[in-house]
Amino acid sequence: MESIQAIKQRFGILGNDEKLNRAVEKSIQVAPTDISVLVTGESGVGKESIPKIIHALSHRKHGKYIAVNCGAIPEGTIDSELFGHEKGAFTGATQSRNGYFEVADGGTIFLDEVGELPLTTQVRLLRILENGEFIKVGSSKVQKTDVRIVAATNLNMTEAIKKEKFREDLYYRLSTVEIHLPPLRERKEDIHLLFRKFAADFAMKYKMPTVRLEDDAVALLQKYRWNGNVRQLRNVAEQISVLEQERSINAEKLREYLPGIGSNLPAVIEEKKRESDFSNEREILYKVLFDMKNDLNDLKKLTLELMKHDNSEKVKEENEGLIEKIYGNNDEEEVVPEEITDEQLEVLQIPQNNTPDKQDKYYFAEEIEEEETLSLQDKELELIKKSLERHNGKRKAAAEELGISERTLYRKIKQYDL
Ligand SMILES: Nc1ncnc2c1ncn2[C@@H]1O[C@H](COP(=O)(O)OP(=O)(O)OP(=O)(O)O)[C@@H](O)[C@H]1O
Ligand SMILES: [Mg+2]
Repeated sequence: MESIQAIKQRFGILGNDEKLNRAVEKSIQVAPTDISVLVTGESGVGKESIPKIIHALSHRKHGKYIAVNCGAIPEGTIDSELFGHEKGAFTGATQSRNGYFEVADGGTIFLDEVGELPLTTQVRLLRILENGEFIKVGSSKVQKTDVRIVAATNLNMTEAIKKEKFREDLYYRLSTVEIHLPPLRERKEDIHLLFRKFAADFAMKYKMPTVRLEDDAVALLQKYRWNGNVRQLRNVAEQISVLEQERSINAEKLREYLPGIGSNLPAVIEEKKRESDFSNEREILYKVLFDMKNDLNDLKKLTLELMKHDNSEKVKEENEGLIEKIYGNNDEEEVVPEEITDEQLEVLQIPQNNTPDKQDKYYFAEEIEEEETLSLQDKELELIKKSLERHNGKRKAAAEELGISERTLYRKIKQYDL
């Protein structure tokens, strides 16, 4: 059996906290069985690594691994996405379609944000868990599938059951083994370690010297609540790496990047952030330009290689890392519903007035004559980022504030790689 350390390294999990190690150990132990697993923990604690470990160490590792974000699929189509549908099952069903449970036969399905599943879908899921049976939407034929289910949630399931939003019987079926990931504030020893690793990664990415925290900043880092957990810490490390000229960061500087410090009251966040928010726009644009410059340099390098050799396969092989960096890695199966609904076409309402008002929260600080599309995209990105920050990464609340569906927000997060 691979050791906990080796698995953590293989899956990019940092930290030496005992509870974190216990979670990884449990994943290793449960992997070879077909037992359903429920991964719990606050938003941003790293729940998505656990099903990957379980799948990779199971006898299903050569089978499919499908990750489904239950919170991002509209209620009207989720049954069809998961279980498939017959031709003519509903308006627009011009062809029959296999659902993820059929496609993943012999493999693993990761049901992320499982607490968001509608009650009717929960009934269907319970049946699969009990005897592997399901029925396509619009069909009467019972089908069988052999799928291992790992689910995750950041909700308090006891509450959800009490409010009758989640079936108790399904909860017990799903959580035969529960793996809990501790919040970052309970892993004090790991916080600085994680910050150093992220700072080093971003220094490399942006080709800058690494930022370092002074002692008082380290103390502040460990005292902070980290409602957004590792995700928030990573974002803070990135912002500081990009925006700060001075590479040595003291507590006073760090404080500017930690919302709600002191009281954690939203009102304080509003007050504190208002001034700095849009004076930072220019810096955010710099970051975008910075990224573009880096990509351009990488592309130049690749083009040069291609000009030097006429064997493109060899160049591809030798520059695998670079190609992945520029074009991304599409290996992992990411499930996004296929049909385009009106909801998917939803866009954020960005004010178009030409007379900027400094009190207006959409006001773009500098008079930058740039391409309209870029500026609109930046504004949208900023709105999303700020809303997610305000809600500590909670997509539901952010989507509500932005006036778009959670699913649209999810797509935008993917689009902007947030
Ligand atoms: N121990 C860790 N070491 C390194 N990176 C981590 C660790 N834990 C989390 N991360 C990083 O933090 C980010 C958030 O993790 P992840 O997406 O797994 O969160 P989550 O628990 O699924 O949150 P949510 O409930 O909001 O979906 C990812 O970029 C992940 O790589
Ligand atoms: Mg997640």
